[in-house]
Amino acid sequence: MELVRFWNHLSNVRSYSRKDTLQLPELNFIMEHKDFLKESDVLDLGIGAGRSTLFFAPLAKSYTGSDISENMIEECKTKFSYTKNINLLVEDATDLKNYRDNSIDFVLFSFNGIDNIFPESKRIQCLNEINRVLKSRGLYFFSTHNSLFIEEYYKFHFFRHPRRLYREYLRKRQIIKENGSLENIQEKIKKGPLFFFEGMRIGKEKFLQYFITPNQQMTQLKKIGFEFVCGYSLDGKKLGVSEIENCKDPWIYYLVRKP
Ligand SMILES: C[S@@+](CC[C@H](N)C(=O)[O-])C[C@H]1O[C@@H](n2cnc3c(N)ncnc32)[C@H](O)[C@@H]1O
Repeated sequence: MELVRFWNHLSNVRSYSRKDTLQLPELNFIMEHKDFLKESDVLDLGIGAGRSTLFFAPLAKSYTGSDISENMIEECKTKFSYTKNINLLVEDATDLKNYRDNSIDFVLFSFNGIDNIFPESKRIQCLNEINRVLKSRGLYFFSTHNSLFIEEYYKFHFFRHPRRLYREYLRKRQIIKENGSLENIQEKIKKGPLFFFEGMRIGKEKFLQYFITPNQQMTQLKKIGFEFVCGYSLDGKKLGVSEIENCKDPWIYYLVRKP
């Protein structure tokens, strides 16, 4: 599978292994939910090289971290070999057969990992699985790319350095070539979520990420059966329904609850 090969690549494992800070929404979530986490069985999906593990595992009653990439999990096993009560495993977040219904208090899918899942029906399968394994009143916290940010990719930035300017020209040309014109994309965004090419490749293949507007995301979550608790913009600010609808950050964190 191409995606697994991409995340198994050592350059990706090394690059994610160097990441050791929380994003502000994650930090603020932790500050507000320390007591809840202490009593929680936590399932952290798509942990990569364990950036979130560093912070969430010590706070949880029990912690399971998983990823579809074997090399990411191997890296975590080395990193956390001295840490107690951590369970690490290779698993696909779209198939959570390792967990019983209503058995987990808190599920995390951080840093847009869910946007790698293709096609959309698999994302829905993943969300249904998360809903299934969560206990009633359990929380799901995740981030996803925001379609309202897409127009930024079409902006041209001027650089004084000729090489950087040329690179910027190539970047913008590629965005249009692979995704179509901005007008075209804006029409697609109105119709629903989409897979967008930001510029990354897996070998020669395009690495597409799922983008969704906040409104569409709220509807998708509601259909699965989740209740909206709040959102977080990237500066860590808590967002209510009306604020999240207009948030134009590149990605947004959503906190939802199983009723
Ligand atoms: C952008 S990285 C984020 C890693 C980590 N959560 C962090 O915040 O540093 C996305 C991760 O999701 C994993 N991933 C992608 N699709 C997955 C799937 N279907 N099931 C489990 N993990 C998946 C990738 O292997 C990768 O490690």
